[in-house]
Amino acid sequence: MKAGGTVALRVWRGNRSGGEFKEYRVEVAPGMVVLDALRAVQAADAPDLAIRWNCKAGKCGSCSAEINGRPRLTCMTRLEDLDGNDDDTPVTVAPMKTFPVIRDLVTDVSWNYEQAKEIPPFTPGPKPPDGTRRMYQQDVDRIQEFRKCIECFLCQDVCHVIRDHPENKPAFSGPRFLIHLANLDMHPWDTVDRTEFIKRAAGIGFCNITKCCTDVCPEGIHITDNGIIPLKERVVDKYYDPVLWLWRRITGRSKKSSAS
Ligand code: SF4
Ligand code: F3S
Ligand code: FES
Repeated sequence: MKAGGTVALRVWRGNRSGGEFKEYRVEVAPGMVVLDALRAVQAADAPDLAIRWNCKAGKCGSCSAEINGRPRLTCMTRLEDLDGNDDDTPVTVAPMKTFPVIRDLVTDVSWNYEQAKEIPPFTPGPKPPDGTRRMYQQDVDRIQEFRKCIECFLCQDVCHVIRDHPENKPAFSGPRFLIHLANLDMHPWDTVDRTEFIKRAAGIGFCNITKCCTDVCPEGIHITDNGIIPLKERVVDKYYDPVLWLWRRITGRSKKSSAS
């Protein structure tokens, strides 16, 4: 679709009890993103259309939705970049499927905050005698990637473990929180051994490395390769490596470094 033309938007309207797609037509301006189009719908046709957004710059993580079936930030998705859309093919905008709808495109993502509360927090050891906490640059680089997360929950939305099986939610924290755990676990100053938590409470075994989470992450975080797979290796080392198991039995040590 080109600037100066119009685009049809099929927007899901409804609440927890049900809803349907409704079609609106919007004039396309140069550089227009899906969020602009939704706001144009609000301004002209549907002032009661519920959407959530804040920064319009891809940084607050609040405008997540499913655009033509793909989880994306509405503020970072240009209409002209959508494949297969022309003036006559509507752009479909639906709420994230994995979370309960509150109204229209706004979902209740509070389940994610419950996951965050369960995670043992960062716990640094005592400062060295000179009072400084030095870190190797490679350790900083390794965890910095995970700290780019904007908590848009698009990875949580797309992960089939909870998207297709909501009954798994009590047993699986989802990719966003697995990279949060990786961030903590790989921090050189942290002292907590979270391997048991990662195995049992976070349910890392549910992840079968489909990498859909990595595919949709707007921050380009290598969720699977750099976060989840190293955590899986730590769990395997701790629970299934016979040499490490014997070493722990002999020494009685189960400290964090034994699984690193
Ligand atoms: Fe969003 Fe990426 Fe963070 Fe997942 S890891 S919540 S997709 S920014
Ligand atoms: Fe889900 Fe990502 Fe694993 S999509 S199955 S957490 S690789
Ligand atoms: Fe903030 Fe889209 S409005 S990320």
